[in-house]
Amino acid sequence: MLIPKIIRESLDFIFEKVETKSADSAGFSDIYGSDILWFSFKVMGFALISGLFLYFTRQTLIVMSRLIEYDLRKDIFAHYEKLDTAFFKVNKTGDLMSRVSEDVNKVRMYLGPVLLYSSNLIFTFFLVIFSMLAVSPKLSMYTLLPLPFLSVSIYYVSSIINKKSTIIQQQLAKINSVAQEVFSGIRVVKSYVKEDKFTQHFEEECEEYKNKNISLAKVNAYFYPLMILLISLSTLLTIYVGGGMVMAGEISAGTLAEFVIYVNILTWPFTAIGWMVSIIQEAEASQKRINEFLEVEPQIYNTAEEGSTNILEGSIEFEDVSFVYPDTNIKALDKVNFTIQSGEKFAIIGKTASGKTTVADLLLRLYEATDGVIKIDGKDIREHHLGELRNKIGYVPQDSFLFSDSVSNNIRFGNADATQEDIEHFAKQASVHEDILNFPEGYETRIGERGVTLSGGQKQRVSISRAFIKNPDIVILDDCLSAVDANTENAILSYLDTALKGKTAIIITHRFYNLLSFDKIIVLDEGKIAEMGTHEELMKIKGFYSEQYQNQLVDSHN
Ligand SMILES: Nc1ncnc2c1ncn2[C@@H]1O[C@H](COP(=O)(O)OP(=O)(O)OP(=O)(O)O)[C@@H](O)[C@H]1O
Ligand SMILES: [Mg+2]
Repeated sequence: MLIPKIIRESLDFIFEKVETKSADSAGFSDIYGSDILWFSFKVMGFALISGLFLYFTRQTLIVMSRLIEYDLRKDIFAHYEKLDTAFFKVNKTGDLMSRVSEDVNKVRMYLGPVLLYSSNLIFTFFLVIFSMLAVSPKLSMYTLLPLPFLSVSIYYVSSIINKKSTIIQQQLAKINSVAQEVFSGIRVVKSYVKEDKFTQHFEEECEEYKNKNISLAKVNAYFYPLMILLISLSTLLTIYVGGGMVMAGEISAGTLAEFVIYVNILTWPFTAIGWMVSIIQEAEASQKRINEFLEVEPQIYNTAEEGSTNILEGSIEFEDVSFVYPDTNIKALDKVNFTIQSGEKFAIIGKTASGKTTVADLLLRLYEATDGVIKIDGKDIREHHLGELRNKIGYVPQDSFLFSDSVSNNIRFGNADATQEDIEHFAKQASVHEDILNFPEGYETRIGERGVTLSGGQKQRVSISRAFIKNPDIVILDDCLSAVDANTENAILSYLDTALKGKTAIIITHRFYNLLSFDKIIVLDEGKIAEMGTHEELMKIKGFYSEQYQNQLVDSHN
């Protein structure tokens, strides 16, 4: 704020000297050169000091905003992970991602740059107004006249720009999702020769994106000239009114120069007001979206003390268990009752969509039963320690999911302390060791995203190794041999026969395994238990089970 004053002093000094002595007369710069140099040094010195403080301000505020951004992002991610499977079924992955990336970024813009510029604006504004009024109240009034118009019009245009940018963002998200879907389903797209159709669809979305961007560019093209026009108007007014006042002898020429500088100092913060208001609005909307998810409480959480579920006997009871999927309202299980003694082998058989996978989901507490009680070791599963319970259950899901990491790390996922020998041991048991050795880098071969570089059967067997390396007390195998050939199946089954000794096992299957004898078998039909008993008992009933069994026998003889 002192720089304009120095400039006024220096100009007034020179004007005064010039009046007494013509500037081009010899010796002018010899006499006054050092004075003028001194003024310049003062201006430069203050500029340096203000630069230094700007550095400190940015260090404080921008760094702070980055730290808050870091914390916020971490918190949201950790909170997401705590939420139930049901939450992830209802909310789209893209939405979850945009809240953790885009929205956090908008909040950061508010906490960093906006806080910086607005505090700057408030200080600058009062200091400038104060200095102006101290020099000339009348000229101050004229100078400040166009500024409110400037702010209002900038706010107006900013909000148009904002709306357009939001629409452009959404369009970009659309383009991304089209591309993502095509690439992840590229095999289907190619085998149905639909490349051109998708290219055309993609082109249409891009065309839309281009048009929206051009329309934004047009608004921007008006916006900047308008801003410069209004700022210049303010300067013009200052010079016009101030010039008159200089001629009338009310103020000095240096004062006029000082005012012109004030106007320029003020205009930047004023133009920033509109920009700031729109960012504040966006940040508010973003924080709301973030809070929406942060305020979602997990429905399934742990209430038990640590260490209470370290070892399981493995007996399981379902008492009148019903389950309705919250998003689809499909009744997947209807008053299901069964008991599994510890160490028993239990098979669940049934048509597709009869509720088999749902039984596994409920046991792992991925969903909570709508009605009825599930007991493990005679204790309601809700009273078990959630993390420990899940750790004691080895689950091989129907659709095996692998991470984009090395094969050995994917198996080690089941047990972080496993040695390389353990990993190879369990890979051998699941008959996948030979396959892995044939990979280019053996156990260190990286598996592509979601395991795309492995065959379906290889994925299933890696995921069996992963489940068994946990040394679980209860094993749930959901249709985990559907993609392996008969020989491999037999190899794994004979391993299972030994590996499952002393463990409770639930085996969900479409096929009948002669090598594996079950203590009890249930047949599910539309969420209800249709048949229950041992193999011999079910064969006598002559229902779904015996029918399927006969069919398979016929098949294998052909
Ligand atoms: N996440 C989900 N959200 C909503 N409904 C679901 C969900 N998962 C399954 N369902 C529905 O619940 C019913 C039972 O599904 P479940 O997955 O238990 O069948 P399944 O017996 O395992 O079938 P499959 O043999 O094909 O694997 C089905 O009607 C299905 O549409
Ligand atoms: Mg299933």
